[in-house]
Amino acid sequence: MRIRLRDCALATTAILSSLRHVAAISLDPTDPDSVKSAASTAAHSMMQWYGGNLTGGTPGLLGGPYYWWEAGAMWGALIDYWYYTGDDTYNDVVTQALQFQVSPTKDYMPANQTTDEGNDDQIFWGFAVMTAAEYKFPNPPADQPQWLALAQGVWNSQQARWDTSTCNGGLRWQIFTFDTGYTYKNSPSNAGFINLGARLYAYTGNQTYANWVNRAWDWMEGVLLISNFGEGPGYGIYDGVYDTNNCTTITFLQWTYSAGMLLNTAAVMYNITGDPIWETRLYGIWNSSNIFFYNNTILWEQACERPGGVCDLNELSFKSYFARYMAASTKWVPALLDIFTPFFQSSATAAAAQCVGTIAGLYGNACGFSWTNGTWDGTYGVGQQLDAMQIFMANIVQDARSPVTRKTGGTSTGDPSAGTSSNTGIGAPTTPITTASRAGAGILTAFVVVSWLGAIWWMYV
Ligand SMILES: *[C@@H]1O[C@H](CO)[C@@H](O)[C@H](O)[C@H]1NC(C)=O
Ligand SMILES: *[C@@H]1O[C@H](CO)[C@@H](O)[C@H](O)[C@H]1NC(C)=O
Ligand SMILES: *[C@@H]1O[C@H](CO)[C@@H](O)[C@H](O)[C@H]1NC(C)=O
Ligand SMILES: *[C@@H]1O[C@H](CO)[C@@H](O)[C@H](O)[C@H]1NC(C)=O
Ligand SMILES: *[C@@H]1O[C@H](CO)[C@@H](O)[C@H](O)[C@H]1NC(C)=O
Ligand SMILES: *[C@@H]1O[C@H](CO)[C@@H](O)[C@H](O)[C@H]1NC(C)=O
Ligand SMILES: *[C@@H]1O[C@H](CO)[C@@H](O)[C@H](O)[C@H]1NC(C)=O
Ligand SMILES: *[C@@H]1O[C@H](CO)[C@@H](O)[C@H](O)[C@H]1NC(C)=O
Repeated sequence: MRIRLRDCALATTAILSSLRHVAAISLDPTDPDSVKSAASTAAHSMMQWYGGNLTGGTPGLLGGPYYWWEAGAMWGALIDYWYYTGDDTYNDVVTQALQFQVSPTKDYMPANQTTDEGNDDQIFWGFAVMTAAEYKFPNPPADQPQWLALAQGVWNSQQARWDTSTCNGGLRWQIFTFDTGYTYKNSPSNAGFINLGARLYAYTGNQTYANWVNRAWDWMEGVLLISNFGEGPGYGIYDGVYDTNNCTTITFLQWTYSAGMLLNTAAVMYNITGDPIWETRLYGIWNSSNIFFYNNTILWEQACERPGGVCDLNELSFKSYFARYMAASTKWVPALLDIFTPFFQSSATAAAAQCVGTIAGLYGNACGFSWTNGTWDGTYGVGQQLDAMQIFMANIVQDARSPVTRKTGGTSTGDPSAGTSSNTGIGAPTTPITTASRAGAGILTAFVVVSWLGAIWWMYV
């Protein structure tokens, strides 16, 4: 009988692991077959966490302890997996998952997720379907929602939430007033909206998306979420601001994934517009990203991975998105390939070397989270597998096809008005909130506060 991992609450430390270690995942980053094989091993282990397509499961969901957003992130990563390796093993399960969670308004606002869903959660499902359109992932049957239309649905629903009632604009972290974090305007939400808009602009040529990319970017610079540590112009990307004091107190945490979303935005916009401001922004963010490489070589989530730090379950997967966005950006700005390749190689080699865990009865070659120590750190899970898989695949980006747009062979059908009937979240709750979900949101906030204090400590010590 297969153990159902999703029933092992918070099983992120290796209490089940045997003492026997398997050989590391063998990886030669310059050999495409070796890279594909390593990615396949990482993906296979990752899918041991998924039971949504089995009897009694809910398609699309990882289930506890993982939040809904991370499943969306995983489906996006598996579209990448098919794009980079050509292996279509997971395509059907990906399509089923992405279709099951679309929600009646066709913009990834499923009623079951009301108490968990922030803008930065919804956007990961939007990224997945946008990627499907860009990479020509097989289109769903014509009577089902199409990838591009779903991405437009997510974007339209978020655009309607642009909130000028405080701080001259910005998206809030949370969608619903009753979710903890409603007063926080954060970078993952705003950068996600900007990134999806840039890619929709590239795909469709619709200027409205570009206008919002510019407006939202300017807003982030205005409140110094994009700045030099809040000291004026610069390209550090900080976590968020509270609208309770006109967005003047910045949380100076720097997460890889927010920087990745904006790095990729700048690459896409530079490609499409040729405007030098986007080149400046692209290299500015890249220059500010040296903190994301331990010893200037190995990708790490310094905000929580540094000595003494603790990364929560969500944060364990963030660097996978940075790797994904770095690689994707090389297609829009080919000069980045030579700059990024040494980082892909050193990070992937370090990642592969520590995928040596054996999780009894489940899988071998479990990857840990930290790649900097040469040994497995004893943790395992979806985030760890995502991180390793994405950095492995970055090493074969030079062989991958270019993303398409409507003018260059894209075949996904759009719907510019998708998602416009969705709940803006501004106003009364549509679903009563339970004590349990309030507690869940509170715990997340507590993690933020703890991480933030940790960052202050890190900055001053
Ligand atoms: C569920 O998906 C996995 C891939 O992760 C596949 O191996 C399995 O056959 C699928 N099961 C069903 C019942 O479709
Ligand atoms: C919502 O939850 C119900 C009850 O668990 C389940 O039957 C349904 O499939 C879920 N819907 C989605 C879209 O996850
Ligand atoms: C809020 O801050 C903005 C600058 O970001 C400033 O233009 C505006 O006047 C401030 N509003 C209030 C009410 O202080
Ligand atoms: C990035 O850093 C390089 C090397 O320090 C420097 O020459 C360049 O001007 C920087 N670019 C930007 C946009 O900050
Ligand atoms: C840092 O990188 C250098 C090579 O650039 C290497 O010699 C050194 O051992 C590394 N230090 C650590 C702590 O990994
Ligand atoms: C823009 O991106 C497309 C898609 O990847 C690529 O084919 C094209 O060469 C890029 N243009 C420039 C000027 O780099
Ligand atoms: C690093 O690896 C050594 C063994 O090589 C181990 O003793 C130590 O605990 C590890 N440190 C961390 C932070 O994982
Ligand atoms: C461009 O996008 C906007 C925003 O979604 C939409 O309202 C408009 O209809 C679109 N225009 C065209 C020509 O599709």
